[in-house]
Amino acid sequence: MIVVTGVSGNLGRVVIEDLLTKLPGDELIAVSRTPASIEAYGTSRNVDVRQGDYEDPASLEKAFGGAEVVLIVSSPDVTPGTRPRQHGNAIAAAKAVGAKRIVYTSAISADTGPGFLADHAATEALLRESGVPFTALRNSFYTDFFVNPAAVSAAIAAGETVAADGGRALNTATILDFGLAASAVLTDEGHENRTYELRGPLWTYDELAAVISEESGSPVAHRAIPLSEAGEGAFVGQLVSDGFFAEPSDDLATLLGRPATGIREVVREALASGRGQR
Ligand SMILES: NC(=O)c1ccc[n+]([C@@H]2O[C@H](COP(=O)([O-])OP(=O)(O)OC[C@H]3O[C@@H](n4cnc5c(N)ncnc54)[C@H](OP(=O)(O)O)[C@@H]3O)[C@@H](O)[C@H]2O)c1
Repeated sequence: MIVVTGVSGNLGRVVIEDLLTKLPGDELIAVSRTPASIEAYGTSRNVDVRQGDYEDPASLEKAFGGAEVVLIVSSPDVTPGTRPRQHGNAIAAAKAVGAKRIVYTSAISADTGPGFLADHAATEALLRESGVPFTALRNSFYTDFFVNPAAVSAAIAAGETVAADGGRALNTATILDFGLAASAVLTDEGHENRTYELRGPLWTYDELAAVISEESGSPVAHRAIPLSEAGEGAFVGQLVSDGFFAEPSDDLATLLGRPATGIREVVREALASGRGQR
C-alpha cells in the first residue's frame, strides 16, 4: 500500500493521478488534511482518502495504517520550528505503522544551501534518525512559478521580461515532472537511503525572452534589474544572482527516463492555453 500526503495540493495531486495509471486504487491511500477535499477526491476517483493532519499524530497513524511506502509532501507552513515538528510527526507515524520506506520532498542543496533550507535539512536528519529507509527528493523551485500563462502573457504585452537575475542560470523543473519522478520513486526498487538533487535543464532569462519571442512571434527582450529594484522578487533574485540554481544535475532526467521538461515546452503550453497572447 502506498500512501500519498498533500493530495489537495499541486504536487500530491500529480503523484496520486500518476499512481492511479500504474496501480489499482485499492493499493493507494490518499491523505488530506481538509475534509472538503477528502469528500471531493474520494468520490471522484474511487481512492481511499483519509484525513491526516501533520499537527495531529493520532490522525496520521490512523491515516497511514497499512502503509508500506509513505510520501511525505513537505508542509507549506514556514513558521519557524513548524515544519520539523510536523514532518517529525509524519515520520513517527510512518514508523509506527511499520512502513518500509519514507519518501520526502526536500529542497536542492538542503544540507549546504542558505538558511531558509534549514527545515529540510532538519527533516532529512529526522529521517536518518528514524531508522526507516528513506528517499529524499530534493526538488528545485517550480518552473511554473517563473513561466506560466500569466507571466508569458505579461512579457508579450510589455515586450520584456524583468528580473534581478544577475545573468545567472536557473535549474527549475515543472511540478508535473517532480510529481512523475516522485511516483517513479514510490513504485520502483532501489531508492532506499538515496538523496536525489532534482533539477531541470538550465535556462536563463535571456533565453526565456528569446523563446517567448520565437514561439509567440512578438518581440520580447530581457531587462535585468538590480536587487534593490526587485521588490517582492528580491528574495528569489538574490538566490538566482548568487548562483543557487546554477548547478545542473541529471537525477531528475534519470528518474523520469527522459529529459526533464524545458522552458520552450512550458512557453508553448502557456501560449496554447489561450492566456498567452499572440
Ligand atoms: N519547489 C518549489 O518551488 C516549491 C514551491 C512551493 C512550495 N513548495 C513546497 O513543496 C510542497 C508541495 O508543493 P505544492 O505546490 O503541492 O504545495 P500546495 O499546493 O500548497 O500543497 C500543500 C499541501 O500540504 C497540505 N498541508 C498543509 N498543511 C498540512 C498539515 N498540517 N497536515 C497535512 N497536510 C497539510 C495541504 O493541504 P490543505 O489543502 O489541507 O491545506 C496541501 O495538500 C509545499 O507544501 C512546500 O513545502 C515547493
